[in-house]
Amino acid sequence: MSVPSTQKQWVITGTDKGFDGLVFKEGPVPKLGENDVLVKLHAASLNYRDLAIAKGMYPFPIDLPKVASSDGAGEVVAVGSRVTQFKKGDKVCTLFNQGHQYGELTIESVGTALGGMREGALRSYGAFPETGLVKAPSNLNHVEASTLPCAAVTSWNALYGLKPLKPGEWVIVQGTGGVSLFALQFAKAAGAKVIATTSSADKAATLKKLGADHVINYRDDPNWGATARKLTPDGAGADHIIEVGGEHTMTQSLSAVKYGGIITLIGFLGGAKPKDSILEALNKICTLRGVFVGSREQMEDMCRAIEANDIHPVVDKKVFPFDQAKEAYEYMWAQKHFGKLCIKID
Ligand SMILES: NC(=O)c1ccc[n+]([C@@H]2O[C@H](COP(=O)([O-])OP(=O)(O)OC[C@H]3O[C@@H](n4cnc5c(N)ncnc54)[C@H](OP(=O)(O)O)[C@@H]3O)[C@@H](O)[C@H]2O)c1
Repeated sequence: MSVPSTQKQWVITGTDKGFDGLVFKEGPVPKLGENDVLVKLHAASLNYRDLAIAKGMYPFPIDLPKVASSDGAGEVVAVGSRVTQFKKGDKVCTLFNQGHQYGELTIESVGTALGGMREGALRSYGAFPETGLVKAPSNLNHVEASTLPCAAVTSWNALYGLKPLKPGEWVIVQGTGGVSLFALQFAKAAGAKVIATTSSADKAATLKKLGADHVINYRDDPNWGATARKLTPDGAGADHIIEVGGEHTMTQSLSAVKYGGIITLIGFLGGAKPKDSILEALNKICTLRGVFVGSREQMEDMCRAIEANDIHPVVDKKVFPFDQAKEAYEYMWAQKHFGKLCIKID
């Protein structure tokens, strides 16, 4: 395949015009450094972060303009002279925080996120340092592989980053967003029991099909934490809770957690001002742990698990064409999606 000198790309030009600040424009295909890998990107997926950046609602540092989206997948078309881990034809995914290789996040690596601090994945070609890519699981197509860098790695980090999930343990996942569905799939593959919450009866049926052992409607049962706890053996509570609701869910998570359990703080879909004091962690004898995606080492572990268990990410029925990325942002903003929302790249 001959590589052109220019390409189409979606650039976030600023944060004052909402999604109109997202511009589809021509740009150069990046030059390949000796440690770089040139990737023909075939798909990208969106995260709430991408929407928040475009709307000027993202609370962490960004450096615009940048090509949008942290999550991409594609095929290696050329490698620099010093590259050892990849060859032409390899299928790859991007690493969210390009500098986060292993261990804890550092001040330096937190500033290396694609689609905000570095050029993202919503373009035809990207050059990434070889340490900024991971081989895609062989059981996934490009669209499926594009869902992994942010939501999936975050769930993996929640379940394995501190106190690895064991078979037979109990996991609570909240709602049917990308992070929670990955956590459900990873937990079932690990032989754990899963209690899922949702606001919709239709989605409850899908959660059951995906393997959820129990589903609770959080609108019908606002005190779902106590209900979830009663479902666990001896009413002892859940070992892991994937906390994405923030203000609206924290009280319930604290009510459902087991002594010694972990509530992983990931998002605040329901607001960012929880009513509970952090001293509740002492009262409930549990760990409250914030995470920011995860390392390349964790992503590699996760990709092996996805391949070994033939896990397929839940992708929304609507996959958008490349020139309609802005429509994809609007569709997701209107919360019309189920699971991951993807864009195919020409
Ligand atoms: N810390 C990190 O590294 C990290 C990484 C990725 C994502 N995040 C954050 O994690 C959150 C989830 O991300 P996502 O990609 O999974 O989002 P998403 O796909 O947009 O999730 C949407 C779903 O969340 C559920 N939901 C909404 N409000 C809720 C509430 N008050 N209580 C319980 N569930 C609620 C709904 O499920 P139902 O329709 O079934 O009710 C909704 O369909 C976001 O805040 C995101 O910014 C953080």
